[in-house]
Amino acid sequence: MKKLYCFDKSLALFERAARVIPSGISGNKNPAFAVPGSFPYFAESGEGCRYRDVDGNVYIDYLAAFGPIVLGYKNPVVESAAAEQRRTGTTFNHPTERAVELAEKLVATISGMDWCAFGKNGSDVTAYAVQAAREHTQRRKIIKVRGAYHGSQSWCRHGIGGLIESDYEHVLDFSWNDATEAEDLLLEHEGDVACIIITPYHHPAFGDQVMPADGFLSDLQRLCKRHGVVLISDDIRAGFRLDLRGSHEYFDFEPDITCYCKAMANGYAISACLGTQDLKNAASKVFFTGTYYTSAPEQAAALACLAELERTDAVSHMMKMGRMLMEGLHTAAENNGLEVTLSGPPTLPFMTFANEDNFRRSQRFSGEAAKRGVLLHPHHNWFIMLEHGEADIQDTLDVADTCFRIIKKEFGS
Ligand SMILES: Cc1ncc(COP(=O)(O)O)c(C=O)c1O
Repeated sequence: MKKLYCFDKSLALFERAARVIPSGISGNKNPAFAVPGSFPYFAESGEGCRYRDVDGNVYIDYLAAFGPIVLGYKNPVVESAAAEQRRTGTTFNHPTERAVELAEKLVATISGMDWCAFGKNGSDVTAYAVQAAREHTQRRKIIKVRGAYHGSQSWCRHGIGGLIESDYEHVLDFSWNDATEAEDLLLEHEGDVACIIITPYHHPAFGDQVMPADGFLSDLQRLCKRHGVVLISDDIRAGFRLDLRGSHEYFDFEPDITCYCKAMANGYAISACLGTQDLKNAASKVFFTGTYYTSAPEQAAALACLAELERTDAVSHMMKMGRMLMEGLHTAAENNGLEVTLSGPPTLPFMTFANEDNFRRSQRFSGEAAKRGVLLHPHHNWFIMLEHGEADIQDTLDVADTCFRIIKKEFGS
């Protein structure tokens, strides 16, 4: 039997980190968010769909850096485009021609959008999107889905450290797939709602993913038109994994603003906010800037990444691999006398165990899989990349079969 992985260097490095970095590793990359003691904490390198941690353990990776790695680690086309651009420098006094090329490319690619502005992280552009909506409507309120994540800014981060009540004084929540609740909020706050912000399908952490019910997204679109409210599609997580023209094409609705980040540049730090013509004037009035927003290598990387996604018809391949993974996991669980739920689209799959609300089986399953060279997150959806091939999926399913057997033995059904 292959020796099981251990995480000694990760643990030692985490102890060092905790002395000088608040919480050692911040946010969702903190060990507490995954499987403490049975998961890698620090990275060394990546190649294709393989990720190598600081202990030298190599995994078939389904975390993909929480989404950005869509082609595969160290994609040669993206790396050489970024390196070529870096030869001239990195950040300048002004944007380079790459900014215009990339904005043109995105406007031509994403359906229904007429302009594009760049940030670095997803939170930059979701914040910009709501500010543009507020400027356009001259209204205050933001309506969002309960449990949806739109970033780390205070307006969309309920109840986690450093916040004050007034941070979300103008933020209202409704339930995913309940357009009537959204309408009630619009009526209650008539004339004061600037935008409804949604993700194109519901992907909460610590829960099954939920697709839009028939008519839900078009109902929201109709409500927004009727009440003069801006509809924002936060496509940061699903973007470029469902349809290169935007996940609104995949789900057939028409937002006024769309936000992208993760899969845009295969790991380079860049995000984009796109919008329709009638919002362009308001968007131009928002003071949207950051020291690195104009950095050119990331823009060159994004241009190369988009071209590779198109050239390889990456979404079709990733859908096929994702389907194979989801069906295979379902069968392997069943063969071991276990019931699991596989949720979400095939390119962003997630699995939970039935009859469990504390994630103990999921954590144990992910921890055992990690020890055997497969990285699957217990609480957060997974990501398929172009480099995942049938042999990788089959190897993953073989490991999963062993892990299901362990779960069955330990927990029963
Ligand atoms: C749907 C969605 N919106 C916004 C964000 C925030 O992006 P970032 O962490 O890059 O600020 C995320 C990050 O996971 C996300 O999944």
